[in-house]
Amino acid sequence: MVQFQVDEQRCIQCGECALDCPAGVIAMDDDNRPQMRDSNGCIQCQHCLAICPTAAVSILGKDPEASLPLAGKMPSGEQLTALVKGRRTVRRYQEADLAPEQIDELLNIASHAPTGVNANAVLFTVVKKRAVLNKLRDDLVAKLGKLKEDGRLPEGPAGEYMSAVVNAWQEKGQDVLFRGAPHLLITSTPAGVPCPEQDCLIALTTFDLVAQAHGVGTVWDGIFMWALAACPEIRGQMGIPAEHRIGYAMAFGAPAVEYHRCVQRGPAQVNEVQR
Ligand SMILES: Cc1cc2nc3c(=O)[nH]c(=O)nc-3n(C[C@H](O)[C@H](O)[C@H](O)COP(=O)(O)O)c2cc1C
Repeated sequence: MVQFQVDEQRCIQCGECALDCPAGVIAMDDDNRPQMRDSNGCIQCQHCLAICPTAAVSILGKDPEASLPLAGKMPSGEQLTALVKGRRTVRRYQEADLAPEQIDELLNIASHAPTGVNANAVLFTVVKKRAVLNKLRDDLVAKLGKLKEDGRLPEGPAGEYMSAVVNAWQEKGQDVLFRGAPHLLITSTPAGVPCPEQDCLIALTTFDLVAQAHGVGTVWDGIFMWALAACPEIRGQMGIPAEHRIGYAMAFGAPAVEYHRCVQRGPAQVNEVQR
């Protein structure tokens, strides 16, 4: 069960936990104490724990004192603007792997990304070792090469890019598939999740920004997505459950490049609703 508990010594009976509950399952009783009315309706978002000014509320067995306190911790608007504008697709990487603990930390932070109806069901399939990704690249390029040889690559940009992947690898030893990154991340969701694609993309977008804020380079990997569609057996080899819907993929690693200024985009294309 959801284990909603209120420390009566700490509770100042402000009612914020009840007011902020999106499912409306917390209410103040006749003595003005918060009560969980319908634990089945709780979506386990932990807003009650997060909003309590005195750390009196515990839910799901979580100790509110173990939460990251937020006072003075939020990045400024200026800092976030620099991150969003300064994030770049990185296509040159250092040879060395990131420390596995750093990858775990980034994934754990990205797991805080919002999910529809708080499903929290995104699976992060990750390659933590360059040696493993090298083997995957070798397998995939060989398969794509065979499809190319047999004239079975799809028409259009997907086929053209996959053909370029094969040529670049065979002729120049250039890794266009993963852009030379040592690591790969794929997000997927099980059947029955209310917002499967959105959850996957938001999780990856969050990972992207958090990684770059920690000095890790990233590249959204549409070419790998095409390769995966052309060679679907790869997903089983990677241990992605058959019933999962794959969202997208991102390669990442320590960058071998530094950008000194933002690119200049915009203004945003805006359609203002007038009435
Ligand atoms: C959905 C998506 C798929 C992408 N796929 C690839 C890819 O396969 N290889 C690559 O080098 N860049 C890929 N990119 C990176 C884009 O080319 C890049 O975002 C764009 O050129 C703008 O550059 P910036 O990210 O540095 O601002 C992809 C980006 C997105 C959003």
